[in-house]
Amino acid sequence: MPDRVRKPPRQTFQIGEDAVAALMAKLVQGAVEKDVVVHDAWFLRCTSGYVSNETGISTIAKLLPNCLLLSDALNHNSMIEGVRKAGTEKQIWRHNDTDHLEQLLRAADPDRPKLILCESLYSMDGDVAPLHRICDLAERYGALTYVDEVHAVGMYGPHGGGIAERDGAVARIDILEGTLAKAFGCLGGYVAANANLIDAVRSYAPGFIFTTALPPAICAAATAAIRHLKTSQWERDRHQDRAARLKSVLHAARLPVMPSETHIVPVHVGDPEKCKMASDLLLSDHGVYIQPINYPTVPRGLERLRITPSPYHDDGLIDRLAEALVDVWDQLKLPRQSPQILAAE
Ligand SMILES: Cc1ncc(COP(=O)(O)O)c(C=O)c1O
Repeated sequence: MPDRVRKPPRQTFQIGEDAVAALMAKLVQGAVEKDVVVHDAWFLRCTSGYVSNETGISTIAKLLPNCLLLSDALNHNSMIEGVRKAGTEKQIWRHNDTDHLEQLLRAADPDRPKLILCESLYSMDGDVAPLHRICDLAERYGALTYVDEVHAVGMYGPHGGGIAERDGAVARIDILEGTLAKAFGCLGGYVAANANLIDAVRSYAPGFIFTTALPPAICAAATAAIRHLKTSQWERDRHQDRAARLKSVLHAARLPVMPSETHIVPVHVGDPEKCKMASDLLLSDHGVYIQPINYPTVPRGLERLRITPSPYHDDGLIDRLAEALVDVWDQLKLPRQSPQILAAE
């Protein structure tokens, strides 16, 4: 296997307004080119983050003969579908357990192409991947790295480049994937990597080739959102502040907030039917919609309501939410402590 296939050269990467602006210009001009150069990195824009994962992972894996996929156990369904469609051997490493990942890498044929797949920020528990440790292992064992930044891009890093930017790991990661939804409030997804890799993906990825391009209005909206979040730190600071306040108010109300390092605030229910009932009661009695999260999205026994405050949720709204949750917890006689809290005692 030539080196350039096993391990493409590193590149600097920055999600930038330039990328979407250039893309938009091309679309407005009616051109069919859909990839954009930003600094040294290339973007392949897809119709959603889901599609970019599914088609990106499966295409990259198919292009690398006999590729071994090493996927974190809690990766998103879109990544799982990408792995499934790749049709090559996969190994699942225990969530965020880099010792386990190393065991698998050590046992693999050193000459075999390997692709490590993880998210930077996991949306159900709000925990963060040890990106530098994963990159250390990738370098030691000659593996490529693919990181989904869907829940972090726009929200973390001094320019909203995600956890990889925050942790100074961008230049060490081979493929970054993200969304133009979530923080950017639009629609669309992308895969970013070096020019060779993106050129290969765009030439073979069915999820890119056989579907309609994003319309110019969406590209314009995404451009405006990226341009704003690249320079405005207010939303990121306020977002963290709101998440911290929400956690503290829910703790004070003795609600079973599960530990989380980020803006994701899971509240433990521990029963699938009551989880759905809690969500229904919040909506019918209090006008608050929070999705119930049940198996298979989370393991049985860890059913939860998952709350993600925005920068625009003020103190009054957070207090009202806490009161509503307390009322629902009382009505359903739900436990006030999560398994993690009990275990720690
Ligand atoms: C980790 C992760 N990756 C990818 C996606 C898909 O992104 P999009 O909503 O842009 O399709 C999601 C969606 O919620 C997600 O949670």
